[in-house]
Amino acid sequence: MTTHPDYWNRIYEDEGRPGWDMDGATPLAAELLELALPLGLRPGGDLVVPGCGYGHDAAELEARGFSVTGLDFAPLAIQGARQRYGDRVAWSQADWFTTQLGPWDAIFDHTCFVAMDPPRRPAYVDACAAHLKPGGIWMAGLFHDVNGRPGPPHAIPMAEMCTLAEAHFDVLHLAETSASHPRRAGREYLLVARKR
Ligand SMILES: C[S@@+](CC[C@H](N)C(=O)[O-])C[C@H]1O[C@@H](n2cnc3c(N)ncnc32)[C@H](O)[C@@H]1O
Repeated sequence: MTTHPDYWNRIYEDEGRPGWDMDGATPLAAELLELALPLGLRPGGDLVVPGCGYGHDAAELEARGFSVTGLDFAPLAIQGARQRYGDRVAWSQADWFTTQLGPWDAIFDHTCFVAMDPPRRPAYVDACAAHLKPGGIWMAGLFHDVNGRPGPPHAIPMAEMCTLAEAHFDVLHLAETSASHPRRAGREYLLVARKR
């Protein structure tokens, strides 16, 4: 059951380096930040990376000057993140739906939303809104195509994503990206949205 940390923890245990792990930060980070900085997100701001895995994106964002929380409910993910990057980032073993940490200025969402079972998407969007300060920014890399495989990850059409996000957010950017990792080229798009 993907809703339970054991499901994910077992993958970390069995595979060591799971198929989604790029052994480095996503190249989407630069483009997402370029989109978010003109919206008022400033280095020094508080940023959370839900479903941070081994912490590559969280560490990259910390290196770019943000105060970062890397959150994941799988113990082996947090352990691996801490081993790789030490305590530069505030690692938290917690469930995104129930964490009492925050609120944050921004969410950096890379392969967490798309890991959710589709029926949980509205609750996930509610959680994003609940964990952001007023006017906070949600940045996300999403899939419109996962090569026909059953998920996770799950693809979501842009129009459906827009409707979901609009429950709590003004969608400021929703467009394909050319910055994907080569293994994901042509299959990803970016969302930048501001909490109303
Ligand atoms: C596909 S992996 C991506 C990991 C990381 N973002 C990366 O790109 O390497 C999804 C991650 O989300 C975590 N996750 C799934 N549901 C979660 C939840 N409700 N709360 C916190 N973490 C969750 C899993 O444990 C897993 O590490």
